Amino acid sequence: MLHILSVDDLTDDFLFSLWRDAGKRRGKSNSFLKGKVLTNLFYEPSTRTSSSFYSAMSRCGGSTIPINNVQFSSAAKGETFEDTVITMSTMSDAIVVRHSENGAAHKAANVSSVPIINAGDGNSEHPTQTIIDGFTIYNSFNKNLSNLRVTLIGDLKNGRTVKSLVKLLNRFDNNHFNLVSPKHLKLSNDLPKSYYETTDINEVLEETDILYVTRVQKERGSVHSYSLTSDQLNTLPSKSIVMHPFPRVNEIPTDFDKNKRAKYFDQIKFSVWCRQILLERVMK
Ligand code: NCD
Repeated sequence: MLHILSVDDLTDDFLFSLWRDAGKRRGKSNSFLKGKVLTNLFYEPSTRTSSSFYSAMSRCGGSTIPINNVQFSSAAKGETFEDTVITMSTMSDAIVVRHSENGAAHKAANVSSVPIINAGDGNSEHPTQTIIDGFTIYNSFNKNLSNLRVTLIGDLKNGRTVKSLVKLLNRFDNNHFNLVSPKHLKLSNDLPKSYYETTDINEVLEETDILYVTRVQKERGSVHSYSLTSDQLNTLPSKSIVMHPFPRVNEIPTDFDKNKRAKYFDQIKFSVWCRQILLERVMK
């Protein structure tokens, strides 16, 4: 049984084959998962992640049980998380879990009889966002994930998409990271092999291939706010790309959205392409 709990569960072979198929299929519908049922078990807010799993499942001919409002589920009556997972694993073929607690997806995998997909656990990991982010990079840089200057800005302490992305890119040769955050929101664990830390984005913009922008995780106690200006973003090299897992708050001005470097809406489109293939692999 293939659980997707961490980027560590995704081998390079698995990822490149998933990206190759996602690039061929491009979100087209099929009936590979006809008769299969997915449960979306979300204990934290979500628009993109839950909807894109729903959309991916529908486009593969399957259906989804959406548990997005845990306040209306049995959790509100005091049911344990484990009992909810066991219950849903009796009536579905895989479960997508999002939870505020680190390790929640692992906890689910310990009791589930069907595959668990981690859609974000606390400030720990978000491996399926990394599949999408990796695909966006693979598409923009000629199927190559090496020799990149990656600038990560925002809440590096509590942003789980950042942690998973660093884990992935750190596997490939010669990637250098610029880590830009206020001192109290620094990336602390799992530091990459080659990195430079600063509080000033202007120092590194011109030496960036990928600018990965993140919001400040208020719900995890992070306090800070920042906004990049179009003038700043226009100092990026012309072949660079700007990514954001979304939701954005004020980090990127909307007048940058039409810029050819802006890839954040592509990331959202790719989320369905990638999750279709992922669901097929997991439920096979
Ligand atoms: C991210 C998350 O939930 O960690 N959202 C997402 O899935 N794209 C990023 C965030 O909430 O800041």
